[in-house]
This record gives sequence, C-alpha cells and structure tokens, in this order.
Amino acid sequence: MRYGLISDVHGNREALQAVLKALVKDSVDQILCAGDIVGYGANPEECLALIRQQAIPCVAGNHDWGVCGLLDLDRFNPWARTAILWTQRHLARADFDFLRALPLTFQDDILAMTHGTFNAPSGFQYLLGSFQAGEAFPYLQRKIGIVGHTHIPGFFVRKGGDVHAGVGPFLQGEEGCEIIINVGSVGQPRDGDPRAAYGIYDSDKNYFEIQREPYDVKSAQQHMRECGLPVFLSERLPRGI
Ligand SMILES: [Fe+2]
Repeated sequence: MRYGLISDVHGNREALQAVLKALVKDSVDQILCAGDIVGYGANPEECLALIRQQAIPCVAGNHDWGVCGLLDLDRFNPWARTAILWTQRHLARADFDFLRALPLTFQDDILAMTHGTFNAPSGFQYLLGSFQAGEAFPYLQRKIGIVGHTHIPGFFVRKGGDVHAGVGPFLQGEEGCEIIINVGSVGQPRDGDPRAAYGIYDSDKNYFEIQREPYDVKSAQQHMRECGLPVFLSERLPRGI
C-alpha cells in the first residue's frame, strides 16, 4: 500500500490542489489527512469540498474543533482566533456537521493517525521532540503513527526503548522499529520552506518520504488579503514561518 499523507491544509486551496495533483503523479493508493482542514486560509469551504469529494479519511485538528464550537477559542492566539471567527461566517451547515463528526483518531491494519499526540488526542499537544515522542509511543496502537499540528515535518523512531529523531526527508523503517511521522503542513509550513509539505509511506517497503510541492503562494495571499484576514497570516506564507 502506498499512502499519501497530508495535514494542516488550513483553508489554503492553492496548496491543497497542488498537493492532490502531485499525489496523483506519486501513484498513491490511499490519501489520509491528519487534521486542520480549515482555519487561517481564505478557502475553507473549497478545501472541505475537495477532501469530501475524494472521501479522504481525516481526523479532527484543533482548528477544525475551534471552528465547529468543540474547542474554546481562548485556546488560540489572536490571529488564529480572528481566522476561526472569519471561517465560521463562511461555511455551510453541512461543513459544520462534517467537522463535528471528525474522529480524534484513525487506524487501519497498518497505521494509526491523530492530529497532535497519541497519549492525549483531545489535548492537541505538540509533538515537537524526542521527549514528547517518547510519551506518545506507548499509546500508539500500530507500528506506524501519523501526526501533524506542528507544521514541521519530521520522524521519530523508537527501537529497543530508545527514541530518536530522524534526520532528512527520507526514512527506511527497520525490523523492530516503531515510527511516528509528522507530515508537516500543506497550507502553512513553518520550517522555513514555503512549499507545501506532505508525506508518502510505502508500507510494502516500509519507506517514508517527506515531499515538497511548490504552489501559487501569491494567489493564496491575495485571496487572504481580499477577505480581510490578518496581514500576518498572509505575510508568513512566502517565508514558511
Ligand atoms: Fe495546524
């Protein structure tokens, strides 16, 4: 099975369209989304429609929950809160129903997925380093875990009780290893690379890749400006922060 792994689309239609096109070229069998379809970007409704049209299994992110009223907006910074309130005014009832119905976790025979960490899916904590990964691994019910939330792609590997972070955009899984992959963000990368990030996992080869795809950042920024979304949110896109 060849998985295409996306996360943190955040209403960025241009970035999502570019990644979905790339995933066709990548010949994936199954696309999964690790949450935060909405929030920040100017086209949440279109992004939800694309995810639903393709019947992409998705877990709930904190912004998805914020928008549909399941998470207190005090949990968000002022820019995020402003964008969530804007998003709430631009979705249809069916979109809210869809967001409310998103599960916190997903698993199939091969992998498990959540937005933040496996030890506390509804807490939306950030899995930023080996320490947090070490706390999450005991709760991972498969050998492979998929997360997003930090907008920073990377890998964490547990073997023989030791947890370490992977280096670089590729990882070959080994016998006896458990692996958590953070697939980064499609719509608002924060690792200094403005290109959309996504992951590929080939379960036959037990091989992971983080891929980057350029998209029309200027167009995404223009839509955000036209919508009156906070200037900081559009200005961060070309800087990848
Ligand atoms: Fe996010």
